[in-house]
Amino acid sequence: MKQSSHASAKASHYNKDAKDYDAFNEANSQVINKTIEKILKKHKVKNVLDLTCGTGSQVFWLADRGFEVCGVDINANMLKVAKKRAQKTSYKIKFLKGDMRTTKLGLYDAVITIFNAVGHLTKADFEKAMKNINRNLKAGGLYVFDINNLNYLLKGNNITSLTIDWQTIEGNYKSRAIQYSTIDQSGILASYTTSYSQKGNSKPKILEQSQTLQTYSAKQLKEMLQRNGFKVLGQYGIDGTKFIDDKSDRILMVAKKNREILT
Ligand SMILES: C[S@@+](CC[C@H](N)C(=O)[O-])C[C@H]1O[C@@H](n2cnc3c(N)ncnc32)[C@H](O)[C@@H]1O
Repeated sequence: MKQSSHASAKASHYNKDAKDYDAFNEANSQVINKTIEKILKKHKVKNVLDLTCGTGSQVFWLADRGFEVCGVDINANMLKVAKKRAQKTSYKIKFLKGDMRTTKLGLYDAVITIFNAVGHLTKADFEKAMKNINRNLKAGGLYVFDINNLNYLLKGNNITSLTIDWQTIEGNYKSRAIQYSTIDQSGILASYTTSYSQKGNSKPKILEQSQTLQTYSAKQLKEMLQRNGFKVLGQYGIDGTKFIDDKSDRILMVAKKNREILT
């Protein structure tokens, strides 16, 4: 199979998706948000830094349940949606533009990067991000993230489980996204999407997009985390069930900072 190439996503990557992101994503993220809440409560976490907050799916979920949360994202349009959502709440949530590889805000009980967000980075940049996440955590702080499981995607026909056909209708605005994906041995997941949107009876807008994401096996992640000052506490399916290497479609990693990373 031809090998794909993968570069870390640019800040503008989600510019076109921000507007429809919540309509497609919010229902899907409930399962993982519940699992994260459980893990953070179990570890008595009080404050959380979400370094890939997007439109704020985890930020609002956790703030609604009493956590103190700060949201950071590299994409201005995603943050704009998050800030608009925040105006409808009574909490003071800080949303800041930043990069998970470099943004240093303080020492938190936990850092999260959810919904395959670290897949947007190359392997080398993910290691850079891990070092930065380490620097944003208190001693013993938690890093929780999820990513597509390479060993699952390489098995049989499992890659077809990522095929999607999502439709939403809001008032007179209709949108639909159809996507298929391929995977190669180096873990690069390439996805090809056609999106249609239509206001009333106007001419539909059609947008063709493709993107790559880096995926990992649980063993690779464990090695990377250990190199960057973390100890793996547990790996789960996104619903919190036991992780099974060739059966769980995503890996939810829970790691603890066990040493300072100075460089
Ligand atoms: C799939 S979205 C997930 C957003 C949110 N966590 C959720 O579950 O809906 C991935 C997010 O990661 C952000 N992102 C990608 N690269 C980033 C980087 N280097 N630093 C910070 N955010 C980044 C994107 O802008 C996007 O909002």
